[in-house]
Amino acid sequence: MDSGLLLTLDFPARTETELTFVVANSLKTQIFPRCCHHPRTRLAFFQNQKWRTDKISYQTHHFFNSFPALTSPRNPLVIATATATTATNMVKAIRVHELGGPEVLKWEDVEIGEPGEGEIRIKNKAIGLNFIDVYFRKGVYTASEMPFIPGREAVGEVIAVGPGLTGRKIGDIVAYAGDPMGSYAEEQILPANKVVSVPESISPVVAASVMLKGMTTQFLLRRCFKVEPGHTILVHAAAGGVGSLLCQWANALGATVIGTVSTREKAAQAKEDGCQHIILYQEEDFVARVNEITSCKGVDVVYDSVGKDTFQGSLACLKTRGYMVSFGQSSGVPDPVPLSALAPKSLFLTRPSMMHYNQTRDELLEAAGELFAILASGVLRVRVNHTYPLSQAAQAHADLESRKTKGSVVLIP
Ligand SMILES: NC(=O)c1ccc[n+]([C@@H]2O[C@H](COP(=O)([O-])OP(=O)(O)OC[C@H]3O[C@@H](n4cnc5c(N)ncnc54)[C@H](OP(=O)(O)O)[C@@H]3O)[C@@H](O)[C@H]2O)c1
Repeated sequence: MDSGLLLTLDFPARTETELTFVVANSLKTQIFPRCCHHPRTRLAFFQNQKWRTDKISYQTHHFFNSFPALTSPRNPLVIATATATTATNMVKAIRVHELGGPEVLKWEDVEIGEPGEGEIRIKNKAIGLNFIDVYFRKGVYTASEMPFIPGREAVGEVIAVGPGLTGRKIGDIVAYAGDPMGSYAEEQILPANKVVSVPESISPVVAASVMLKGMTTQFLLRRCFKVEPGHTILVHAAAGGVGSLLCQWANALGATVIGTVSTREKAAQAKEDGCQHIILYQEEDFVARVNEITSCKGVDVVYDSVGKDTFQGSLACLKTRGYMVSFGQSSGVPDPVPLSALAPKSLFLTRPSMMHYNQTRDELLEAAGELFAILASGVLRVRVNHTYPLSQAAQAHADLESRKTKGSVVLIP
C-alpha cells in the first residue's frame, strides 16, 4: 500500500461490526458487513480519501472488543483509534403468521441463518412487489411453512458466501426472481445458482422492478407464444407491472397491441407503451370492441392475467387456432374450462408459469440476458411508479390490490 492507514481486524463471524476511526482529527464511521467465515480478518485501508475493504485474508487468532490507538508510519496525518461493537445476527423482515388482508404483513426481527453449501447471503437493496405475493398472503397459493416471509424478487449485495463456493464473491450485486420465497427481508439466504449478476448500468431499483415481470414478459412473448410482426394481440391490465412491459416489447416485435385498462389515466400510460387500441373494460364490452378492431377476425393470442372476470370473453376474442395464455388471476381464479370450450375454433389453452420456463441455469441466464439486452437497447421504458419502505409493505399490497398502481412497485429495505 502506498499511503494511508492499515488496520488488521478480526471479525466475529456473522455479526455486523461498527468501527469508529479518528482520522486527522475528523471522525469517520464505517459499518462493516457480516463476514462469511469465522474467524476471518479484513484489512481496511484509508486511501485516496476513501475507506476500502476489498482485501480479505485469513487469520485464526482471537475476537476483538476494542482496538488500541494506531498510527500510520507512512502518513503522520492519519492517526486512528478504532472501537468495535458487535450487533446481533437478527434482521428486519415482513412475516405472515396467518392468511388474510394486508394487515397480516408484520414487521419483525428474524434470524436468517448461515449460508450453507452452494448458498450466498445477500443484503437486499430493492425488492420487487408482485401480484403473486398477494396470492400467498391470502392463501390462493399455499406457502410451504407458516409463518413465512413473502416475496419472490430482490436485488442485493452479496455479503457472505457458503463454504467452498466459487463464482460469487462478497460485494457482487445480484438479482433473483422466482424461487425461493423470502425476499421481504433486509437480508436473505439464496441458492447461488438462482441469482444472476446485475449489469452496472442497471440500478438496483430498476432491476428489482423488472426481473420477475421482465422475465415473465420474455417467456410470454418469445417462448410461450412467439409474437411476430403482423400478429394482433390482446393484453389485459395493460398498464400493470407485467402489462406495461408486455405492450412495449410486443410493439417492438411488430405486433398490433390491443390493451384493456380500468381508468383513463392508465389508458394514457398504455398508449405511451405502444398500445394502438385501448379498451376501458369496466365501461365497454371488450369482446365487441375487439371484434370491431379486428373486423371480426379475432386476435392471434390473448395474454390474460385478470382471470375470473375476463377469461370467457378472452376465449371469444380469439381467432381460429388462436392461443389463450392464461397467466394470472388478479380478479380471482377462472371457472373450470371444459375441453368443449376450445373445440369451436380449435383453440390452444395454456396456463404457464415463469418458473417452469426458467427451470435450468441456462434458461435463467438466457432469459435474464435477453431482458438486460433489451433494457440496454432503450426499447423498454421501466416504470418504477411506486416505491415504499419495506416496513410499509402492507400499504403497498393494499394499493396493488385496489388497482391504484401502474407499472412496477418496489419495496426499499
Ligand atoms: N404466470 C406467471 O409466471 C406470472 C408471472 C408474473 C406475473 N403473473 C401475473 O401477472 C399479473 C400481473 O402481475 P403484476 O404484479 O404486474 O400486477 P399488476 O398487473 O400491476 O396489477 C394487477 C392489475 O390487474 C388489474 N385487475 C383487474 N381486475 C382486478 C381485480 N379484481 N383486483 C385487482 N386487480 C385487478 C388491475 O389493472 P386495471 O386497473 O387496469 O384493471 C391491476 O392494476 C398477475 O395476475 C400475476 O399473477 C404471472
